[in-house]
Amino acid sequence: MTQTFIPRVFSGIQPSGGLTLGNYLGAIKRFVDMQENGGFETVYCMVDLHAITVWQNPEDLRRNTRELCAGFIASGIDPEKSILFNQSQVPEHVQLAWIFNCVARMGWMKRMTQWKDKAGKNTENASLGLFGYPALMAADILIYHATHVPVGDDQKQHLELTRDIAAKFNNDFDVDFFPITEPVIEGAATRVMSLRDGSKKMSKSDPSDLSRLNMTDDADALAKKIRKAKTDAEPLPDSIEGLEGRPEARNLVNIYAALSDSNAEAVITEFSGHQFGTFKPRLVDLAIEKLAPISNEMSRLMQDTSEIDKILARGAERGRTIAAPILAKTYDIVGMLR
Ligand code: TRP
Repeated sequence: MTQTFIPRVFSGIQPSGGLTLGNYLGAIKRFVDMQENGGFETVYCMVDLHAITVWQNPEDLRRNTRELCAGFIASGIDPEKSILFNQSQVPEHVQLAWIFNCVARMGWMKRMTQWKDKAGKNTENASLGLFGYPALMAADILIYHATHVPVGDDQKQHLELTRDIAAKFNNDFDVDFFPITEPVIEGAATRVMSLRDGSKKMSKSDPSDLSRLNMTDDADALAKKIRKAKTDAEPLPDSIEGLEGRPEARNLVNIYAALSDSNAEAVITEFSGHQFGTFKPRLVDLAIEKLAPISNEMSRLMQDTSEIDKILARGAERGRTIAAPILAKTYDIVGMLR
């Protein structure tokens, strides 16, 4: 008997502070697209339990969770159309994660490159939570029987692990209960690079704030950072191939394309032969048009956090209506009394 699963998207972002253009173009904007026209139910989560696998100051965590929620809403996630909630407010995630801790093998977890990178040399001193991170992530996804998961390239291995956990669970208990989830990996064009070094990913942890556009930047900050963005002395080429070896030029073209819902080819066609002195002011205008309303709306929402808290409480309630019966069924399968 093969179960059919409703098309359902799940994705999550850690509320660990500092939302950048990379989060917006690489994740949130795509989440909005899937909410609007993917034919999916959409479930989006602030993964605070993942954030605390490394130290978080409690006050900062609370603030960052609300700010991330504001970022989602300001970008177009509609808490009526999507289920939008904070992970720790739906306890079923942790309950399923425990079961998955007993399904996943040490050897699988040890191979995770994110574990190796984040734990560094001193694995003895990393938290157990950091090691178990991917099992909690599998639980996030599978507690909703999600079929599709939009993520960045760096999360591909975790999604393979999620499939392995689902398959092993189904096999161990001889059921067809958890779906084998499809990753929806972002294209290279939505990978946003540093404004100071086109070979590095745009990152909230870069010491230079000029290296990134923050979702909270106002129009002046956006303009200043784009004007100061590193470029080269050549005009824009007449084909994509001409961007080869010009990572900063390629990055700005990709950002323009993503913000204008176009593609790099069309941007090149429009600006071929022009200098950055022409291109950058156009990019400034576009960035302000698309991003300033988001940062304005975020700061408006952050002025009254009780509104955000209400939205999160309602989102958690809706999340639980899906998660609770799936957890109950899982307990039955495993042999837990309830
Ligand atoms: N690990 C993801 C990241 O750092 C965040 C995340 C947690 C997630 N749970 C998830 C993403 C479930 C997709 C699905 O980007």
